[in-house]
Amino acid sequence: MNSPVMQGLNLGTPAHVKNAKLIAWVADMVALCKPDSVYWCDGSDAEYQRLCQKLVDGGTFKKLDPAKRPNSFLACSDPSDVARVEDRTFICSEKKDDAGPTNNWVAPAEMRATLQPLFDGCMKGRTMYVVPFSMGPLGSPIAHIGIELSDSPYVAVNMKIMTRMGKAVYEVLGVDGEFVPCLHTVGAPLQAGQKDVSWPCNKTKYIVHYPETREIWSYGSGYGGNALLGKKCFALRIASTMGRDEGWLAEHMLILGVTSPEGKKYHVAAAFPSACGKTNFSMLVPPAGFDGWKVTTIGDDIAWIKPGTDGRLYAINPEAGYFGVAPGTNMLTNPNCLQSLDHDVIFTNVALTDDGDVWWEGLEQDAPGKALPAHLIDWQGKDWTPAIAKETGAKAAHPNSRFTVAATNNPALDPAWDDPAGVPIDAFIFGGRRSTTVPLVSEGRNWVEGVYMAATMGSETTAAITGQVGVVRRDPFAMLAFAGYNMADYFQHWLNVGKKLGATGAKLPRIFTTNWFRKGEDGKFIWPGYGENMRVLKWMIDRIEGKVQGNDHLFGVSPTYEEMNWTGVDFSREQFASVTSMDKAAWQKELQLHTELFQQLQHHLPAELGQTKDQIEKRLAA
Ligand code: GTP
Ligand code: SPV
Ligand code: MN
Repeated sequence: MNSPVMQGLNLGTPAHVKNAKLIAWVADMVALCKPDSVYWCDGSDAEYQRLCQKLVDGGTFKKLDPAKRPNSFLACSDPSDVARVEDRTFICSEKKDDAGPTNNWVAPAEMRATLQPLFDGCMKGRTMYVVPFSMGPLGSPIAHIGIELSDSPYVAVNMKIMTRMGKAVYEVLGVDGEFVPCLHTVGAPLQAGQKDVSWPCNKTKYIVHYPETREIWSYGSGYGGNALLGKKCFALRIASTMGRDEGWLAEHMLILGVTSPEGKKYHVAAAFPSACGKTNFSMLVPPAGFDGWKVTTIGDDIAWIKPGTDGRLYAINPEAGYFGVAPGTNMLTNPNCLQSLDHDVIFTNVALTDDGDVWWEGLEQDAPGKALPAHLIDWQGKDWTPAIAKETGAKAAHPNSRFTVAATNNPALDPAWDDPAGVPIDAFIFGGRRSTTVPLVSEGRNWVEGVYMAATMGSETTAAITGQVGVVRRDPFAMLAFAGYNMADYFQHWLNVGKKLGATGAKLPRIFTTNWFRKGEDGKFIWPGYGENMRVLKWMIDRIEGKVQGNDHLFGVSPTYEEMNWTGVDFSREQFASVTSMDKAAWQKELQLHTELFQQLQHHLPAELGQTKDQIEKRLAA
């Protein structure tokens, strides 16, 4: 036998860890990765502080000024490791067809053979952290447990904020409970005596999922969704395949509650692609003209949605924290978010001020005439001044710089945010980032048309993924990078959920699409966005309550100018026309892109979606 215990490394398994499968797996992974030591996280605050101090001592963290930003830290990554790597992300199902044409696929046996030598000895000179976590409230029937093994203490402390992480997980797990094994390494073993760098990582990266065996193997990156494996890898890619098999949905959606002055409350789940406004919308502060309206956050990135016995869909946020985009966040755009960041935050790749605080592009825009800081240390450790920025265009904060913060820091947190029963969903929104073509808001006339809208959604790429920014691509359901199975089957799953719930006689959630990002000829956003998005949300509620008729067009129903509440904002009929207009030529081109997507997915594509496209094309030709 080649177990590490036999080799002399004591696993140090704590007495409260009794799950035989887990103990055996850890032993196997220790034998493979060969860390110097194994540390079992208990999730305590004392442990968090200890690990943060270790990160400070090792140069990964800078402690921010304790008066300005209590108990907060700044980490700056290697410049080559700043975002999710979609081209290195793989769905290794047994059959290629189950991964579908939009996922990278490699046969599991082949991938295992590739990864084996990479993981062999990958943690030499490092500690392996055993990170037990629950996605969803601990012990809830809808929650699922994961165990992440990682050689990154940065990952361990981020997981403490992002998930329910700690010892209590083992009580739920018991001797024979199920968990998703998540193995992560930065892929940077240390030779004896070799000094570590502040952000170890590897040029070679693999983010690998085995959906049938529900395993995650991540190699070479320490950043975000590549490394915090509870998030995209588990709660979306693996969970979406669980949902397909078990009749529920795992979605790239925020969840919010919206309460009217009369005290009526609705719940909305909205899918916008990465860095397209989920965190912002989930914390929305209603603008002037909306006295008595309140928006509360259930989640900002991921929703697990299950049919209830009453025929409605109930959503929970499987996460416990936010890993949100910093640039653009200020007291005007998202005051709740900014307040959440007052204390106990891990910042990654933002800039450091001379007085030990943080800064990012957009932070200066919350007061007219507010000056830029005279000097900063940028995310790459270089001097930054307004003059340098003007000359070179250098950004002080990386465009995908982020904060990690507990949900409980959010002043707008919904009281039901961790209710294991979830909240009943009244409406879904799908919203891409499109500078042209797509109107501010439209509603699908029925479930199938709504699914069609979501399926054909296009969006301009953002800094949340490596590669070119600003390229329009199809991002069905904002799930292009996150569906753990064949996208066409995923469409069918959504149609099936609708059919099944519809058959109960229950009211299905309404389906809307939005686009906050239309630009004028001056290249500037026409729609004011942020809190002003409340005006659109209110129109949706009016639709649900049957108060407004809207304007039927080829691609759903949109509001008339008169149906919107314009109190407190100067937005003319002409401006409204420019964010809602539907240009015939542009839509002919757009439909061509739908056709291309459907050709790519034709093998399993549900017939209803093709029929819906035919109808739109007919209306367009008329
Ligand atoms: P992920 O965490 O990557 O999934 O992103 P997200 O969808 O939560 O995006 P987030 O809310 O963090 O917003 C990303 C960027 O879009 C930020 O720079 C925001 O300032 C900007 N943004 C958000 N809402 C709006 C809006 O209504 N209008 C405009 N113009 N920009 C917005
Ligand atoms: C996204 O890219 O959609 C994110 C950030 O939410 S990450 O966790 O890095 O995937
Ligand atoms: Mn996201």
